[in-house]
Amino acid sequence: MSILVAVRNLTRIFDVSKPWLNRLIERRDKALLTAVNKVDFEIEERTVYGLVGESGSGKSTIGKIIVGLLPPSAGAVEIEGVDLYREEDDAKVDAVRSDIQMIFQDPYASLNPRWKVASIITEPVAARGGDTTDMAEKLLEQVGLSARDAGKYPHEFSGGQRQRICIARALASEPRLIVCDEPTSALDVSVQAQVLNLMSDLQDEFGLTYLFISHDLTVVRHMADKVGVLYLGQLVEEADRDTLFDAPLHPYTQMLLEAAPKLDGFGREATPPEGEIPDPINPPSGCVFHPRCPIAVERCKVDPPELRGVGKTRVACHLAETSRD
Ligand SMILES: Nc1ncnc2c1ncn2[C@@H]1O[C@H](COP(=O)(O)OP(=O)(O)OP(=O)(O)O)[C@@H](O)[C@H]1O
Ligand code: SF4
Ligand SMILES: [Mg+2]
Repeated sequence: MSILVAVRNLTRIFDVSKPWLNRLIERRDKALLTAVNKVDFEIEERTVYGLVGESGSGKSTIGKIIVGLLPPSAGAVEIEGVDLYREEDDAKVDAVRSDIQMIFQDPYASLNPRWKVASIITEPVAARGGDTTDMAEKLLEQVGLSARDAGKYPHEFSGGQRQRICIARALASEPRLIVCDEPTSALDVSVQAQVLNLMSDLQDEFGLTYLFISHDLTVVRHMADKVGVLYLGQLVEEADRDTLFDAPLHPYTQMLLEAAPKLDGFGREATPPEGEIPDPINPPSGCVFHPRCPIAVERCKVDPPELRGVGKTRVACHLAETSRD
């Protein structure tokens, strides 16, 4: 299988300093927040890569960088072999960008309330001068709605139906990659599984590749072929789905899995793992997870672990070989 997306050493730093004058009076330095820290992964074509982590771990920031909405501070995103932020041939970058779509958490906020559904769905294609005859009607049927819905407005639909409209719009430009950022988190539990199943079916039918972002492990387990776990902007573990869920090696992944609702379906809020997420402006030294880690040793406080291969897993933990004992 070929690699569709390669994320290399991706880093994004936000300047969250107070204004210059306040800093001068309060004698404060600039405050820099590293939201994404040297993240490295690849997504194979026609597969689903699940990215999990607690709130603030950098999931959405990575998603935005990959779709071209936010430049990285360092590192690169290659899609179809084109470096999205360094390629100088604009035509190549445009071609790649038109192969990428994004679906967001809040389906209402991303639909223009004054437009009919037909215009919403066809707009990305019409903007590029493409033929949109019968397009909205066909796509609506493909996402389980009715062709007649094309003449309605977003407020006439439920949350799940609106997310279906967002999916139809994303499909309109025949993308290869869809970045899905918590696409079902805002939906009722009963609707979540339906929308996820639809997304899986469409992935097969259209040969799509998904970057699937979620804080919900149950959802990721349902959708993803491969899973990456983020903690404080760093990729701490990555493995194929079954390996990760059956034999997690990183103590943080183990904590997440223990806190996740067991096989009883979607939408149940998991009890968050113990301990507070540290301040990302002043992250802990050494392994950033050490203040919460139940098996930390002295070395962990000073020596940041590199992501390395252990069996079929890539993991950033000094004690990965023995963490399951
Ligand atoms: N535009 C911004 N300016 C400053 N800080 C930002 C900005 N965007 C994100 N951050 C910070 O970067 C970190 C990562 O944020 P991000 O939204 O990527 O996390 P997330 O994993 O998507 O979280 P959530 O699950 O809550 O959506 C957070 O600490 C956040 O406060
Ligand atoms: S490196 Fe140390 S602190 Fe970090 S996860 Fe492994 S054992 Fe825990
Ligand atoms: Mg987010």
